[in-house]
Amino acid sequence: MERQQVLHMKGGVGEESYAKNSVIQTTYLSKSMSVLWQALQDLASSNLPESVTIAELGCSSGPNTLFAVTEITSIICKRCRELGRPPPDFLVYLNDLPANDFNTVFRSLPDFHQKMQEKNGPEFQPMYICGVPGSFYDRIFSSKCLHIVHSSSSLHWLSQVPPELSDKENPVINKGKIFLSKTSPPAVIKAYKTQFQRDFSSFLKFRSAEVIPEGRMVLSFRARRTPDPTPEESCLLWDYLGEAFQDLVAQGLIEEEKLDTYNTPYHEPYTEDIKAEVEREGSFTLDRMEINVAPWDGVNGGNKYERATTAENMAKAIRAVNESMIESHFGPEIMDRLFQRFIEILAADTKEVEHVGVVVSLIRK
Ligand SMILES: C[S@@+](CC[C@H](N)C(=O)[O-])C[C@H]1O[C@@H](n2cnc3c(N)ncnc32)[C@H](O)[C@@H]1O
Repeated sequence: MERQQVLHMKGGVGEESYAKNSVIQTTYLSKSMSVLWQALQDLASSNLPESVTIAELGCSSGPNTLFAVTEITSIICKRCRELGRPPPDFLVYLNDLPANDFNTVFRSLPDFHQKMQEKNGPEFQPMYICGVPGSFYDRIFSSKCLHIVHSSSSLHWLSQVPPELSDKENPVINKGKIFLSKTSPPAVIKAYKTQFQRDFSSFLKFRSAEVIPEGRMVLSFRARRTPDPTPEESCLLWDYLGEAFQDLVAQGLIEEEKLDTYNTPYHEPYTEDIKAEVEREGSFTLDRMEINVAPWDGVNGGNKYERATTAENMAKAIRAVNESMIESHFGPEIMDRLFQRFIEILAADTKEVEHVGVVVSLIRK
């Protein structure tokens, strides 16, 4: 099945949902807010239109979906108060792939509207919110309609597994792995980098048609701060999961060939490669780029736990994100065993790495 139909975070609000297991992503969001604030100061000081259009790309469902929208509207309203101007109204597009749990998002909107009214005071204009199902690697909005684009923890997802790895005739094999690793052949590393370049360039090209001149984009996603394509801070957790898969192969629960043909459509680009792609595509000026780091045990939400509990929390977080893709390739039967083994492997090791992300602020030329 196509990745677009398969990839979705675990929906709903249950214990295993993405909504309940996205603390690390909340950390990245919080850490990127100073860049968002700075990007909006100039915009909000210039001639704001009566209606401001915001797009949140890869919105998912849960506490992070409207996090940035809340900040953006509050920053603009505050700036308008300082300048003695009435606030604009807001049109908000929430985008994600079609299989996203938009229903949970829509159900949360009445409460959200009420909170926004309380937070921003009686002058606050109505906010019009719509869902936009589709891939942000395609055109999804009409021409020159967006003032502000925001996206977090989403652009590290590629539009597809690099085709070189899924070529039926002559595939490049990433033996026993599901993502880049120290043992990955150079052809695999190159294929992932090329896929990122193609995707990010398409993303910029399509947004350039949709964002007004001087419009802002603030994008935060997982990235590398080193040119080494396989540092432990990018690969360690994927290596643990790969090892859990290999154990299931050894137990005869999945076929080796099935594992060799599973690859995750995910890439953490090096910051210099992001800059290079922005320059090459040419429609946006790179205003700011900052590295954001989450601690090894960030999934614990600031609590200190022993490694076994951290391992369980990490398993829940990784499962909430990857389950739809793993299930579609291997079937649902292996899921509990796979993640139980992942927990054991992680808990038995002592390594710790930081989780690295980047936040990029761009201005449409
Ligand atoms: C890890 S979640 C991040 C959700 C939320 N922004 C946050 O910060 O917690 C990544 C989201 O990106 C979405 N996504 C991935 N590729 C996408 C694409 N090509 N177009 C639109 N959404 C995409 C996924 O479906 C998922 O909901």
